[in-house]
Amino acid sequence: MLKSLSVMLISAFVGASAMAASLPTPASDNNFYSNGQPAETKVQLGNLLFFDKILSGNKNISCGTCHSPYMGGSDGLSLGVGEGGKFLGPMRTLGEGVDAIGNRVARNAPGLWNLGAKEFTRLNWQGVHQVDEATGEFLLPSGPATPQGLDNVLAAQVIFPVVNQTEMLGQPGDNEVIDASIGFPRGTPFLFPPQWEALADRVKAINDYVDLFISAFDDVDRADDITFVHIANAIAAFETVAFRATESPFDRFIAGDRQALTIAQRRGMDIFYDRGNGAKAGCHQCHSGTFQTDHDFYSIVIPQFGPGVLPAPAGQDYGLEEVTRDVSDRYKFRTPSLRNVALTAPYGHNGAYNTLEEIIRHHLDPVSALDNWDPELVIMRDSGLMENDFTGWEDTLLRQELSDTNELSPTTLSEDDIANLVAFLESLTDPASLNMRGMIPPTVPSGLPVGD
Ligand code: HEC
Ligand code: HEC
Repeated sequence: MLKSLSVMLISAFVGASAMAASLPTPASDNNFYSNGQPAETKVQLGNLLFFDKILSGNKNISCGTCHSPYMGGSDGLSLGVGEGGKFLGPMRTLGEGVDAIGNRVARNAPGLWNLGAKEFTRLNWQGVHQVDEATGEFLLPSGPATPQGLDNVLAAQVIFPVVNQTEMLGQPGDNEVIDASIGFPRGTPFLFPPQWEALADRVKAINDYVDLFISAFDDVDRADDITFVHIANAIAAFETVAFRATESPFDRFIAGDRQALTIAQRRGMDIFYDRGNGAKAGCHQCHSGTFQTDHDFYSIVIPQFGPGVLPAPAGQDYGLEEVTRDVSDRYKFRTPSLRNVALTAPYGHNGAYNTLEEIIRHHLDPVSALDNWDPELVIMRDSGLMENDFTGWEDTLLRQELSDTNELSPTTLSEDDIANLVAFLESLTDPASLNMRGMIPPTVPSGLPVGD
């Protein structure tokens, strides 16, 4: 009797310690891309381009509109509102009259934090921009039309928002950039190169830019040497530096400063990493590593909301299946990094939840959270909602299909545990990221307005 009890105790102990995760290792410069030489000018140039509307077909939106320093590198909206939209942040509307935009971006704009770390090899919620780590080969929607010379996958990503009609390009007939591909075969990636060239032409025509490209790139001696690849590499260099956020209280804690976290944050950390004697939520199983992501894809059945993404029917987003065309990947989305997550509400691939507490509660019982979701949680101005936005969620058969793919088993936590988990997630905020206004240049070489 005594013997079997002690065996039980030992095995219970072994079980628990096998489950507990060790804390991640602190980030260092080695985790991040170096930006080549002379890095400083390249970063400064990328900073200007990131905020310059010259890269949008109708000169009305920049990367910084949706990835705003005022909104934690995101836009504060559930779904991105692209070119033609008016105002910034949660007040953004679809614009008016003939210029009003026909559709929104189907997903939530991520905060871009730490994407210059080399381990981020698959970008976007469904991982559509990838680099094969073994061969260094890019796997991109541009396929054979992908230009040579892109520094890394972050640079490879830059070439897409500018040729996306809803995000930055505009509609046929609107401007010379989209019309540069008139006559090229529709529905193929060969539409993109003339558009990249037309954008590079705009930049080349501005002397202040030409001077900066000459000092930033060894292979640029005159305006005509500038290509969209240089533009992309400069923007990626800027993103790598500007969105690095690795000085949070949690970073100080894992580097050895035992005072860096409050009691609540430490308790939350123990719940997250299954450490100690209290509750265990297994968060680290997916949110692992230095940046709290395993870079893998799971279905955790966030309620469907928004216009949907092809090839799925309207109102549906199949996630990873869009890339792999494998039905078993349906509704899987990339585990997001949780760095600076307290700054990037709303949450989930379509911003279905507003607060950290809500998205944590969703994780604890995904299927019933899906059934009991409240569409009022969506952050879009009234004018920003559209006809099919809720059909994917309202249709109970579709909802059942989504439910059946759930990969998260329910976890019970107390109210205190949930509050502690929220406190832990807040400890992942780098204080330097709280005020990033310094990132916004007062003017840009095109002379177009900045910051509206
Ligand atoms: C209209 C709003 C909008 C604009 C403008 C925009 N983005 Fe985004 N961005 C998004 C959304 C939404 C996503 C997520 C898309 C998805 O997953 O399908 C995204 C994804 C990204 C990602 C991948 C993030 C990750 O975590 O994987 C990067 C990097 C990025 N954008 C950079 C840029 C750059 C650079 C520009 C300018 C050239 C830009 N974006 C312009 C809305 C925007
Ligand atoms: C099975 C893997 C898995 C586990 C375990 C898991 N998550 Fe997640 N988490 C995800 C995925 C995948 C998403 C994105 C889902 C989507 O948008 O469709 C996500 C989203 C989030 C988000 C929203 C981030 C953002 O930027 O929108 C937060 C916060 C979060 N998880 C915290 C947690 C916490 C806290 C735990 C533990 C209670 C946890 N997760 C456990 C996979 C997981």
